[in-house]
Amino acid sequence: MIEKRKLGTNGPDVGSLGYGAMVLEGYYGGSDDEQAVGTIHRALDVGMNMIDTADAYGNGHNEILVGRAIAGRRQQAFVATKFGIVFDERETGTELPTGWGFSLKINGRPSYVRKALDSSLKRLAVDVIDLWYAHFVDPATPIEETVGAMAEAVRAGKVRSLGLSNASAEQVRRAHGVHPIAAVQFEYSLWRREAEAELLPTLRELGIALVGWSPLGSGFLADTVTSLDPGDFRQNNPRFSGQNLASNRDRFRPFIRVAKELGVTPAQLALAWLLHQGQDIFPIPGTRRAERVEENAKAADIHLTPELLKRINELARPGLAEGATLV
Ligand SMILES: NC(=O)c1ccc[n+]([C@@H]2O[C@H](COP(=O)([O-])OP(=O)(O)OC[C@H]3O[C@@H](n4cnc5c(N)ncnc54)[C@H](OP(=O)(O)O)[C@@H]3O)[C@@H](O)[C@H]2O)c1
Repeated sequence: MIEKRKLGTNGPDVGSLGYGAMVLEGYYGGSDDEQAVGTIHRALDVGMNMIDTADAYGNGHNEILVGRAIAGRRQQAFVATKFGIVFDERETGTELPTGWGFSLKINGRPSYVRKALDSSLKRLAVDVIDLWYAHFVDPATPIEETVGAMAEAVRAGKVRSLGLSNASAEQVRRAHGVHPIAAVQFEYSLWRREAEAELLPTLRELGIALVGWSPLGSGFLADTVTSLDPGDFRQNNPRFSGQNLASNRDRFRPFIRVAKELGVTPAQLALAWLLHQGQDIFPIPGTRRAERVEENAKAADIHLTPELLKRINELARPGLAEGATLV
């Protein structure tokens, strides 16, 4: 069983590795609902109990799927979901450019926050959400207003703790002044280390956990992605497009060799490296396959010496990857 850690200074104890359910919507290749439920069950079995979803994943379908999987196992699951990316065409929002050739429509207005909460509770079929994030900060709504409305949900007993996703250090500080923030979700992996500069020190000062999204670099660091199907969402990611995928594979080959030397898989080494960055880091790898859940869970048992960590840091140094990225 994966060890539990405190999510934020005053937060609940959750598995140091969580499970990211987004891949179950076919963004990185087809997925099947029956298999998906089995995969989430395996995550709960091994103690990856923070199950991460969002209302926008599969336009609501991912929350329904997670709700199905945790029915009867509610006490074991720590349910984390997000709101704020508008996926219902009847709703309004502010365009947020992603730098990936498309914009997201974001709504953090209090009236939308309340509506989104009730919809998520219904889809998940739960009375209370363990961790509720604003998926992106709405550029047109002061963050204090968004978080103020989220705090009402805590007072009403519908949400246990609050989070922000893709927020800056300054936004986190402002939000935390309105209501304690337990966790901030941000991309963090061996090929995305921007969080280390300003965000992570601020989170540490405030006692907030960092939940690392795409901890395997959307699969890249597992060394199994050699090409992408035309419909694969990662086609939008400059790190995978054109010549960059092949070039990045070359650049990360020395890291892959370290995994082979240690007798672990590259995915396990990438996750173990993240877990060694601090007790306050919670990676949430996604996979459609139950056997990979087990493989990834074993990363929590890997001990990396300071010498090995130094070597990995040198081989996969910040800035090594080619291609600009989101946020
Ligand atoms: N807050 C945000 O804005 C945001 C953005 C993106 C993601 N997220 C969250 O972060 C979670 C994880 O991110 P992600 O799914 O983008 O990326 P990820 O976890 O870095 O990588 C997932 C990919 O890695 C592959 N994989 C997983 N374990 C593997 C293993 N042991 N060996 C080989 N391949 C393996 C999976 O393929 P298979 O399915 O074939 O195993 C999948 O394609 C998401 O589910 C979501 O909950 C949040």
